[in-house]
Amino acid sequence: MTATPEPRDLRVLPDPAAVAEAAARELFAAAHHAVRERGTFTLALSGGSTPKRLYSLLAQQDRPFFAEFPWAKTEVYFGDERFVLPDHADSNYRMAHEALLAHVPVPPASIHRVRTELATPEASAHDYEGRLPRPAFAAHPPIPALDLVLLGMGKDAHTASLFPDTTALAETTRLVVANFVPKLDAHRVTFTLPLINHAQAVLFLVTGADKAAPLSCVLAGPSPSLPASLVQPVSGRLTWLVDAAAAKAL
Ligand code: 6PG
Repeated sequence: MTATPEPRDLRVLPDPAAVAEAAARELFAAAHHAVRERGTFTLALSGGSTPKRLYSLLAQQDRPFFAEFPWAKTEVYFGDERFVLPDHADSNYRMAHEALLAHVPVPPASIHRVRTELATPEASAHDYEGRLPRPAFAAHPPIPALDLVLLGMGKDAHTASLFPDTTALAETTRLVVANFVPKLDAHRVTFTLPLINHAQAVLFLVTGADKAAPLSCVLAGPSPSLPASLVQPVSGRLTWLVDAAAAKAL
């Protein structure tokens, strides 16, 4: 069991706009570092509503993020996806495309959407796992170390599509799996903890008073019933950007 991560990388910002601004600066710095070191930046976007503000900020053409971000050298992945078609209202790809990807010059071939048009969630998951970037030669086990994985957290402390009491949470080998979520009666495709925990950096964005109680429990230490608490990068950097409302129980 890895040690409980020190919340030293916990930053409390006044409001969601400040969280988005801080996240944009984190992404900007991580992207330029990765491009300097390896010539490319592998980024996994999260879904839900919290990151929309960040995505819109990154797409704002009157901000330096837009002009100076190395979009042409960025490979975009998705930490999870609802098993719906890409034009469905619930699609994480659709949300990210509308808020960000349609407005920035990421090469279309560098946007790696989960192919939810395949016959089954399992087929989508296997297909996506096969399209992950190749790990560095020295990587053991052969798990790619994505430069930055963006995550949110639900009120039940789920993250990506790793929900409490679902099979994906127990996955220790596969990097991407299908995951049925009984309480939503919905199929998902999600990164697993092995893939997330091999990232070079994991950045959580958590805002709102309804996240205060779960956030307090998650930061208290790892628990099998709190998926977000199991995100403990093996060697990467873990940063929590939260607003004052979400931090009020800390
Ligand atoms: C998803 C997300 C999910 C999200 C949390 C928080 O597909 O829904 O990937 O893990 O980050 O549900 O969502 P909000 O930001 O909307 O609270």
